[in-house]
Amino acid sequence: MIDTATTIILDPLMDEDGARAMLRLCEDFAPGYGLYAVEESETAFAPELAQRYDAAANYVRSGGRFGRTGEPPRTLALRTNYLRESYAYGDEIVAPGIERFLHHERLIDAARQLYGRPVVEPAIAYANILLPGQELAVHTDVPEFRGANRKVVPQWLLVVMHHSGLFDAWRMPIATGISYFAPEGEQAEGGQLAFYPDAPDGPPSTFFATHNTAIVLDTDSVFHGVDRVGPVTVEPPELSPGNVLRFGAERRRWQLHPDESASSEVLEEFEWRDIRFSVSWKAYCFASDTERSTWRAHTDDLSLATILDRLVVDLVERGVLARGDARPPDRDLALLLIETYENFPPPSVEQPSVEQPSVDQPSVGQAGAGDVDLDGFDAAGA
Ligand SMILES: [Fe+2]
Repeated sequence: MIDTATTIILDPLMDEDGARAMLRLCEDFAPGYGLYAVEESETAFAPELAQRYDAAANYVRSGGRFGRTGEPPRTLALRTNYLRESYAYGDEIVAPGIERFLHHERLIDAARQLYGRPVVEPAIAYANILLPGQELAVHTDVPEFRGANRKVVPQWLLVVMHHSGLFDAWRMPIATGISYFAPEGEQAEGGQLAFYPDAPDGPPSTFFATHNTAIVLDTDSVFHGVDRVGPVTVEPPELSPGNVLRFGAERRRWQLHPDESASSEVLEEFEWRDIRFSVSWKAYCFASDTERSTWRAHTDDLSLATILDRLVVDLVERGVLARGDARPPDRDLALLLIETYENFPPPSVEQPSVEQPSVDQPSVGQAGAGDVDLDGFDAAGA
């Protein structure tokens, strides 16, 4: 069982000057914000499965946190097809000025507190924008292990590895800080972060996205998602690959363009109060400089073959696979692994309440795993 209880709220996150600078940075980000494209893994193991098949299949089956089933896969895909851009990736600074956020002492202190690991190395900062009618399916993030990252191992398998608990000795604990920015009084309706701090089948907590606050937690272990932004009945926008959202300073509105060219037409406009703007921060948390060196030097790496062998042994020990039977075909094995190890939170019977945001009650029956036709659906953020 994964220990998932610690969450740290930072309110405020930055001083006023810092928060104002972040707002400007978000608005002024020249390339604009495109649709989140899931990276392809180079592995040959079950390549036909979407990278986050686990979370997307659970979302389609369960209808999300509130069990809203009945919408066609295309609508569900639009609901979860959000915008994301990196501001910093390792030493690469994409949005100048982000350094102040990336190395913010309060985030780093919270990360130290989260795992009790003193060596914290900020790794990435990126913006997520959810438009009206969009939400983020409940999921855990993609973890990392020495030698096993998303370049060589499918993302769903990395998630399974962590939930199995079999590879803890290779895991790189990552702290995630999710911060929010919006001009004063222009907060969107909805868009709460819903998370399950105690256990997947425990009660969810919700955290409202308000300006210059952050929540720091282990999102690789804690199931979490984002409730629908805007009125519950609002249709998601018709976003297409290549669309870009930019802030039009003249009208002070977010403007959706068909492509990245500066002169392209405006398809739709949004005010700050329509959207949910978060900036996520991730940092590696090392127990010591020695551990960091081992990670960098690749002296104790896992391989895909080792990972699969270990999981199959465990499936046999659990009685999920019969001893002596041949290993199932890759796709069947993949679905079996997801079903065995990923215990998604069941949908809630309660509908969201703006007046009583703190804790929702669980819970009704859980959708089982199994093969789901996702029809090009590849959602649920990393
Ligand atoms: Fe996430």
